Amino acid sequence: MDDHQQPVIKTNGPESSSPSFADLQYQSGFHNHFSSEALPGALPYGQSSPLLCPYGLYAEQISGTSFTSPRKLNHRTWLYRVKPSVTHEPFKPLEPSHRKLVSEFTDSNSSTTPTQLRWKPVDIPETPTDFVEGLYTVCGAGSSFLRHGFAIHMYTANKSMDNCAFCNADGDFLIVPQTGRLWITTECGKLQISPGEIAVLPQGFRFAVDLPDGPSRGYVAEVFGTHFQLPDLGPIGANGLAAPRDFLVPIAWFEDSYCPGYIIIQKFGGELFTAKQEFSPFNVVAWHGNYAPYKYDLTTFCPFNTVLFDHGDPSINTVLTAPTDKPGVALLDFVIFPPRWLVAEHTFRPPYYHRNCMSEFMGLIYGGYEAKADGFLPGGASLHSCMTPHGPDTKTYEATIARGNEAGPSRISDTLAFMFESCLIPRICPWALESPFIDSDYYQCWIGLRSHFTRDGASAKDGDIQNGENED
Ligand SMILES: [Fe+2]
Repeated sequence: MDDHQQPVIKTNGPESSSPSFADLQYQSGFHNHFSSEALPGALPYGQSSPLLCPYGLYAEQISGTSFTSPRKLNHRTWLYRVKPSVTHEPFKPLEPSHRKLVSEFTDSNSSTTPTQLRWKPVDIPETPTDFVEGLYTVCGAGSSFLRHGFAIHMYTANKSMDNCAFCNADGDFLIVPQTGRLWITTECGKLQISPGEIAVLPQGFRFAVDLPDGPSRGYVAEVFGTHFQLPDLGPIGANGLAAPRDFLVPIAWFEDSYCPGYIIIQKFGGELFTAKQEFSPFNVVAWHGNYAPYKYDLTTFCPFNTVLFDHGDPSINTVLTAPTDKPGVALLDFVIFPPRWLVAEHTFRPPYYHRNCMSEFMGLIYGGYEAKADGFLPGGASLHSCMTPHGPDTKTYEATIARGNEAGPSRISDTLAFMFESCLIPRICPWALESPFIDSDYYQCWIGLRSHFTRDGASAKDGDIQNGENED
């Protein structure tokens, strides 16, 4: 066999037969070394940077890690494009400035509180607003300049981006749509995500977001200085949680379009800059590498948990983790609470009461959340910072105790909540703290928790749990 045998290359066919978003095909795998070409033979064979590329294309590398990062962490991709991305006018500050994006959290632009915070779903604007215009930072910590930190954003939007592309120089975006599909055109090809799916757009890729359903809302986690990876599985073994094959990467797609006045919007240090060019940035005819946007359908997640007693820590539901240098300590974990069976015996099944050295931001995509009988709504959010107590609300606690030990197996259905969890302590942006959607009565959900304590321990005996009568 020839040592330089041509690799398997995924192709989307010529531009004239490009697929619509509805019938996109993808490549499968997590951080694989992918190869894709939209025209036959467009990918150079045997080398990455030939003197002359096929079809007269320019070769351009995008590096998501330092050149010298260890091989197992090294992410880079070669793009073969009609014109290189450097072909643009100088960057200028966006006018008018955006003002609601933060990438370096200080006491001059954000504040901190240990209070439990909760937000109701933010209304989707009625005035024309695209994904970038509708994106705003809620909280975060650290600094994109120092390459350590994270930001949590949300977006509410109602129109597609027009004649412009966004590029985030600060970090990776993990996008969790809650209302409305996103059609995302990237330099590597196209992605469609619906609520219940996520997309990761790594640092530096140019992309444009179309909103085929109009009004749209969702959450975005951004990490600085690292990338998302799959969690180790430890004693679980080789299978379970998110499977690498369920991560989907675009197939090369390009447009060779003259686009006068096309704008690249670059997020750089949390500020937005614009540069004009006269062509579409989605002019990559072929690419190969392991640094690429991807999507994941959360229904393919294979949950694990207790099958006898007690409650596993939420880390058992980690989909992706952005690590720090400390083993087991995440800059940001993405954890989900999907539909699943609850079977634990003589166990308090909702999430336990908790104080955590990590900080927890939660969102709800649809349905209800098992620890909150009401008030935590799809499209809403909550933040429980470092060592701030949290747990089931009064109604949930009382209902759980009332069911007693004979609850039997039960299935949590029609729900999808998630958590962004970080070892860093978030500072909160003023527009989030002063938002009309903040739930100033959040504390009330716990204030009614009453003592069930009895000195003779009668109510704590197994099988002898009373139905909500205070025995004091
Ligand atoms: Fe917690």
